[in-house]
Amino acid sequence: MAKAKTVYVCQQCGSVRSRWMGRCTDCGEWNTFVEERADSSEVSPAAPASTRNRPVRLGDVCAEDARRLPSGVAEFDRAVGGGLVVGGVVLLGGEPGIGKSTLTMQVLSGLAAQGRSVLYVTGEESASQVAMRADRIGGEGAQEIAILATTQLEDVETSWSEHRPEVVVIDSVQTLRSHDLSSTAGSVAQVREVAARLTERAKVDSISMVLIGHVTKEGSLAGPKVLEHLVDTVLSFEGDRTHAFRMVRAVKNRFGPAHETGVFEMLSEGLRDVPDPSAMLLSERPVDASGSVVVPTTEGSRCFLVEVQALVAPSRLGASRRVASGLDASRMAILLAVIERKAEIQVLDQDVFASLTGGIRLGERGLDLGLAIAVVSSFRDRALPPNWAVFGEVGLAGEVRAVAHPERRIAETAKLGFSNVILPKATAERLGDAPPGLRLHPVAGLSEAFETAFHS
Ligand code: TYD
Ligand code: MG
Repeated sequence: MAKAKTVYVCQQCGSVRSRWMGRCTDCGEWNTFVEERADSSEVSPAAPASTRNRPVRLGDVCAEDARRLPSGVAEFDRAVGGGLVVGGVVLLGGEPGIGKSTLTMQVLSGLAAQGRSVLYVTGEESASQVAMRADRIGGEGAQEIAILATTQLEDVETSWSEHRPEVVVIDSVQTLRSHDLSSTAGSVAQVREVAARLTERAKVDSISMVLIGHVTKEGSLAGPKVLEHLVDTVLSFEGDRTHAFRMVRAVKNRFGPAHETGVFEMLSEGLRDVPDPSAMLLSERPVDASGSVVVPTTEGSRCFLVEVQALVAPSRLGASRRVASGLDASRMAILLAVIERKAEIQVLDQDVFASLTGGIRLGERGLDLGLAIAVVSSFRDRALPPNWAVFGEVGLAGEVRAVAHPERRIAETAKLGFSNVILPKATAERLGDAPPGLRLHPVAGLSEAFETAFHS
């Protein structure tokens, strides 16, 4: 007999408690517990011993390459590792308005143009709203996309049985609900049920599926952190809505390299691939301005140049202010302390504002030295010469340390026409010769880096 009892589920991490709590002891979030009915029939009876699942020798298992469906949207295909995998499930998370519906529509349109049967399930917008978006982005296959406007999980399952699609997009997982549970759409219980049932079907029927998930302001998927282990690939769609620059980052990928990225530009006719982000990110760089430093940075297998900007000004209020946008704020606080203590430049009583241009967000250590030089450049109002770039990690003792992929960073710097690069000494010694036209300036510590940069 199924008996329903009331439980409280944290909408952030999915923890279950028998009593309501103000703060989740698992994830530390406040006010996230919501009352749900737990159906005790969900607890499955002891499974009968299976006769099929026996251990096998690893050498006898043939490692098959996953079969992939490239969509033709090159930057998306690159981010997932070469195209959607047949029977693979992707979770695409991002803030509302960032472009998730647009991107998935373009991917489906590309696949439909190759003659694949594709289905777009919309729980948020009506079919005509989706059609308007499709018209805007155009694309050969857009007219062939099957649209299902529903918020019922069972409708989706029925349509799969009838139409047998090869690729499905669910927009979004938080808007679907199942008849079997009484909780509202978007609750952890519903999101988990929807994702688990669709994922199982996708595997059985070899459907490639993209689940779209909205992300809360803290940056986690609303509720369904619980989904990340269910799916094969987790993509995070990032960018700043006031800029055109967008990045899709593979946070997890069972079928390919993690941390692979796709870069796009949002235009009036949809997202455009940006195979070479450096040029776009540096396009508005001020000439001869203090506080601006170019850094070759790496994400996954690609390298591109970004502009780090800093503005240092005397604090007018009691406590000095620190604002970092696109950069790790606690990392910046550490760097400022290191600059003050190890290079003896008094910046701790200054307001410091720093940002990465283009609205991108990076947490890479290779940016450290560039940020430190940008801060000192602004503080002294001395610009770095226009054709210089900088990379390297800064340690707590003020030492400049090697970072990953120096060859790629140097190659990209040379390619974009820069003639000088400040880099960690250890890296320069290991690399040997620089590409023609690029002068290397190896530095071992912060003070040496500032001297090199400003010749003081
Ligand atoms: P959308 O894909 O609806 O975002 P999400 O599904 O992540 O909520 O699109 C977001 C924004 O992009 C929207 O504000 C309008 C803008 N946009 C364009 O600039 N060009 C376009 O071609 C489209 C379709 C949307
Ligand atoms: Mg949308």
